[in-house]
Amino acid sequence: MVIVKCNCYIIATAFMLVLSPLPLVCNKPPHIVFILADDFGWNDIGYHGSEIRTPNLDRLSAKGIRLENYYVQPLCTPSRNQLMTGRYQIHTGMQHQIIWPCQPYCVPLDEKLLPQLMKESGYATHMVGKWHLGMYRKDCLPTRRGFDSYFGYLTGSEDYYTHHRCSRVPPLNETRCALDLRDGEEVATGYTGIYSTQLFTDRVTSIIAKHNPEKPLFLYVALQAVHEPLQVPARYITPYSFIKDKNRRLYAGMVSAMDEAVGNISLALQETGLWDNTVLVFSTDNGGQTLAGGSNWPLRGRKWSLWEGGVKGVGFVTSPLVNQPGTVSRQLMHISDWLPTLVGLAGGSTNGTKRLDGFNIWNSISKGSASPRLELLHNIDPLYVDIAPCPGMGSQASVSPASGSGVGSSFTSWSNSSFNVSIHAAIRYMQWKLLTGYPGCDRWFPRPGRLNTTGTRGFESEPGHSLKPVMLFDVEVDPEERHEVSDQYPDVVDDLLRRLDSYVKDSKPITFPDDDPGCDPVTTGAWGPWQ
Ligand SMILES: *[C@@H]1O[C@H](CO)[C@@H](O)[C@H](O)[C@H]1NC(C)=O
Ligand SMILES: *[C@@H]1O[C@H](CO)[C@@H](O)[C@H](O)[C@H]1NC(C)=O
Ligand SMILES: *[C@@H]1O[C@H](CO)[C@@H](O)[C@H](O)[C@H]1NC(C)=O
Ligand SMILES: *[C@@H]1O[C@H](CO)[C@@H](O)[C@H](O)[C@H]1NC(C)=O
Ligand SMILES: *[C@@H]1O[C@H](CO)[C@@H](O)[C@H](O)[C@H]1NC(C)=O
Ligand SMILES: *[C@@H]1O[C@H](CO)[C@@H](O)[C@H](O)[C@H]1NC(C)=O
Repeated sequence: MVIVKCNCYIIATAFMLVLSPLPLVCNKPPHIVFILADDFGWNDIGYHGSEIRTPNLDRLSAKGIRLENYYVQPLCTPSRNQLMTGRYQIHTGMQHQIIWPCQPYCVPLDEKLLPQLMKESGYATHMVGKWHLGMYRKDCLPTRRGFDSYFGYLTGSEDYYTHHRCSRVPPLNETRCALDLRDGEEVATGYTGIYSTQLFTDRVTSIIAKHNPEKPLFLYVALQAVHEPLQVPARYITPYSFIKDKNRRLYAGMVSAMDEAVGNISLALQETGLWDNTVLVFSTDNGGQTLAGGSNWPLRGRKWSLWEGGVKGVGFVTSPLVNQPGTVSRQLMHISDWLPTLVGLAGGSTNGTKRLDGFNIWNSISKGSASPRLELLHNIDPLYVDIAPCPGMGSQASVSPASGSGVGSSFTSWSNSSFNVSIHAAIRYMQWKLLTGYPGCDRWFPRPGRLNTTGTRGFESEPGHSLKPVMLFDVEVDPEERHEVSDQYPDVVDDLLRRLDSYVKDSKPITFPDDDPGCDPVTTGAWGPWQ
């Protein structure tokens, strides 16, 4: 077998003409486009049987690899943090919640981020969309952390048309609404009224059109879709008049707009010829929010919980470069794996990062080989509270694991571990998933459309079992987490508690500072760095 190595597309093409059909191994690093959807649920994509139509996502993933044992974090900031650092939150001090607009912190500045590594590998690096990794000082901004260009918003939950974010400013206890949109480091005005899914897609396609194809491209597209507020141009809702629940109908329209956006981005890559050497990754950042139209059916729980509905993510990879297109992968993968995987694809080095928790999973994706990942720490967060109402639990937003919902702090049955089982934590090893403390809203939310009540925001859910401080599930045979088996497998429980114990000893203290009044955007009219 003759293998031709080449460093440049021209040579490759010349050899192909002369030597075709000899196999060709080309060293030219691929363009990498990473599209991250926001709050996109397990049951919200066509190929999982959703009533929502996603023809572009279905078609692109059908030519690639659908990742069906793929995990993300249960929240925005944590998933993005792990994507950018390749490290668990316990190792960056960011294991608790998200970064609220007035909190003075960001992903620690001594963490080397994915775009910096891509840049060192010779890539042009561009980001469009949601950052949410801190912005209290300029050093935290995407343009200071490896991106050549940035167009997007720094916090979360803004209006899709005005690009304004409303948030309480301490100590006034006053809600301020201000613009959150930047081009580079400058406030971007003049985009009022343009729907963000459209706005960001336009910027992405313009970056693609202007890109010099000789230079490898790393493009990170962090869409606002399909996070609440539920806003969408009317034309996208028209096909969904059959959906009675208003939230779900609006959400479905937002998903359709996002699907069109991904279609447009892939088309732009094809039209510019970049596609033939592109790896496109699509991923959600966390499970769907049932309070805002999302669905993770049949999985248990939702966004902000450690149940599968919170952490099992929609994801796929599509590229002409994969060895086994059209396959479904059941290999265990996690969002922290992208950093070593993509830097590996780029032919770069992870030198300069701290100890990574992610694995290079490219061979598992491309060739179907066994995943190097056997274990996955979902999180350990001693300060956890579920801030959204959970049906059937009243205003249990701050229920502590040691009080309500049948959870008692019991150390006695697991005497071999010093891990405090009142702590909200979850860990996975092969098929086993162990949860401790209160994992978050534990309902099985019904399949959309199966109940004829409207406007009840998914509250007619199936009650969870009474919770125990330590719960074990075999999520391979029981992906819905219905059969708790800790009593049958005490040794597995013991091992996993010991693993949690060693992780907790290896974790950084939580960084979650008080709001800083200096964040007030009243003078500048925009959210942004204030220190
Ligand atoms: C703002 O609200 C907090 C908690 O709700 C309260 O402790 C504080 O006194 C309030 N501050 C003012 C200035 O009203
Ligand atoms: C996709 O492209 C079509 C054709 O140019 C355009 O009409 C549509 O608005 C675009 N959609 C998005 C979300 O960018
Ligand atoms: C890693 O980077 C350091 C500092 O930039 C350098 O001294 C070292 O040789 C590098 N190691 C490898 C294996 O590239
Ligand atoms: C165990 O964890 C819970 C929840 O974080 C905490 O309230 C409690 O104080 C901890 N107990 C011990 C003995 O550390
Ligand atoms: C604790 O460890 C000892 C010795 O390793 C073992 O015999 C015992 O069964 C363990 N206890 C539990 C509850 O797993
Ligand atoms: C639908 O609503 C009607 C009238 O409120 C009620 O009688 C019926 O039981 C409901 N069906 C379901 C499946 O909830």
